[in-house]
Amino acid sequence: MEMKILLLGASLVTSLPTMAGGKPISPNLFGIFFEDLNYAADGGLYAELVQNRSFEYSPSDVDVHKQPAGGWHPFTAWEFAKEGNGIGTISLETREPIHPNNPHYLLVDVKTVGKHGVGIRNKGYDGIVLRKEETYRFSVFLRNPDGGSMPVDVVVKDHKGTVVADTSFTASSSTWKQYEMVLRSRSDADTAALSLLFKKRGTVAVDMVSLFPIDTYKGRKNGLRRDIAETIAALKPAFVRFPGGCLAHGDGLDNIYQWKNTIGPVEQRKGDKNIWNYHQSMGLGYFEYFQFCEDIGAKPLPVIAAGVSCQNSARRRGDGQECVPMEDMLQYIQDILDLVEYCNGPSTSEWGSKRAAAGHPEPFNLEYIGIGNEDHITPEFEARFKMIYEAVKDKYPEITVVGTAGPGEAGKDYEEGWKIARKLGVPVVDEHYYKGWGWFLENLHRYDSYPRGGSKVYLGEYASWGSALENALAEAVYMTSLERNGDVVEFASYAPLLARVGHTQWNPDLIYFDGKQVYPSVNYHVQKLFSLNRGDTYHADVVTEDGGKSMLYSSCVRDSHTGDIIVKLVNMDGRERKANIDLNPFKRIRTEAALTVLAGDAKAKNEPGKPASVIPAESRIKVKKSFGYTMPAHSLSVIRIKTK
Ligand code: AHR
Repeated sequence: MEMKILLLGASLVTSLPTMAGGKPISPNLFGIFFEDLNYAADGGLYAELVQNRSFEYSPSDVDVHKQPAGGWHPFTAWEFAKEGNGIGTISLETREPIHPNNPHYLLVDVKTVGKHGVGIRNKGYDGIVLRKEETYRFSVFLRNPDGGSMPVDVVVKDHKGTVVADTSFTASSSTWKQYEMVLRSRSDADTAALSLLFKKRGTVAVDMVSLFPIDTYKGRKNGLRRDIAETIAALKPAFVRFPGGCLAHGDGLDNIYQWKNTIGPVEQRKGDKNIWNYHQSMGLGYFEYFQFCEDIGAKPLPVIAAGVSCQNSARRRGDGQECVPMEDMLQYIQDILDLVEYCNGPSTSEWGSKRAAAGHPEPFNLEYIGIGNEDHITPEFEARFKMIYEAVKDKYPEITVVGTAGPGEAGKDYEEGWKIARKLGVPVVDEHYYKGWGWFLENLHRYDSYPRGGSKVYLGEYASWGSALENALAEAVYMTSLERNGDVVEFASYAPLLARVGHTQWNPDLIYFDGKQVYPSVNYHVQKLFSLNRGDTYHADVVTEDGGKSMLYSSCVRDSHTGDIIVKLVNMDGRERKANIDLNPFKRIRTEAALTVLAGDAKAKNEPGKPASVIPAESRIKVKKSFGYTMPAHSLSVIRIKTK
């Protein structure tokens, strides 16, 4: 679709009635949607460098229609290692595991030690990345079934076979015992492998082989990759929705995300297949999600399945919804109530004590729970949603429940979802839509007519189909309409958030990364500019196009904490456009303002692996109560004006 045609049809600067002092905007408006999709958790935000550390990958983790099952098994990412002329075998065992939730482990049988021992080697995710002089925490659980001692070498080698880091120790326990030590990397390595070599004849059981950078985000043990976490934190999101997406309601009943399986010591967590065709270790579990929210000053918004699985379960498009049997619903609901206690209960309570045991005696201050994710709104869904909603409301009236209105911007599920929400008085309803960029321009007035005083909106997933500047700018245009409707749109999050290059199931995404670097998209910069320039009141009629034609998109908000007035202007046109900005309704302003501009070619993208081509440029400009501003072609401009 031609951009010019859209511009002519677009109606732009709002003239909605404004309250004296501006129309209120939700303080939570801009947040993030985290889903373990595209290797966002394991191999992504979760800083573990060893892939399949607990040998729990299984052919049933993947859809055989999409990937050959033979490529995904307990030995995935592992290989038998014999450095020198050693002889031995490796086998998979399940008798007497560390924990029943983690049933598989490896038995290494060393027959002949040879020059350097016999054991296993892990290639990480596309190779292990180590940085010179950085330190790494290696740990492993071992058991020597024969008793006696077993000398072990831990060796990290780069792709040329040069040792980058190493250490040695002796294992000597006939029951499972964890060994932990710190390695320092002697040089940079982008595709290294970690070997565990046993140096005495005999057998040894091996599980939970782990290598973590010490330098995780905020230095947390079992923590998050610092560069990715910092890129997310820089968005200053008001909230974090997790763990999905479709991942939350799962591929069939058995795959519904169970938060209780994701807390406690990592070796006792229960991994599961990921609906996106890989494995979830649950190393990044609910404790880590809540801790991350706290670390970045965002409110947690966990989303729990409404007692039904994804309607696309088992590749049945639209009619694969499976339901928790009614006789199991009481326990299902109890698990949800227990989540609130886990977050907010005293450390003496049953579930609060588990939070305290993990090192967080203070509550996590949970305010919101999402129930359901873009479900097919069937009578079965409705019955279960109602039971959960009423139970949460009864026991925890202070918790705001977020309901769901199906997978699209309109249609039967949307209608039915909203009908249920209005009938039950659900405070917030989650809407999802992914569209071409033109749709966002054509639907700028969607929320203008939503009833005020009833359920509010969480625009939980949205994106235009692309990573080019034109996509990002269309999202920016739409975000001005979200600000304008910030009295009814309570939350909004672009989706999905993260994608590992080479393991991406869904495009576009906000932030791409590989093992070495993070590549924020152009869309990321738009999200960031809006999030960092939030206001709590919206002010209409501040911006007009020079010459009276309505050819620009804008919003004006005021942040009462700083007193700053923030004007955002989007020019979708391929040439400069002049805007008139009238700040006379505001009492006083300072004459110097901060200007940030994101501009470039409409088709320009920030390609992963290449230097970013579209990034915001900051400068200072002079402003007056009434002034003209020339918007560059294809641009978002944010003018931040101080009043104090
Ligand atoms: O964001 C990717 C997917 O899109 C989510 O898992 C799902 O909720 C939606 O269909």
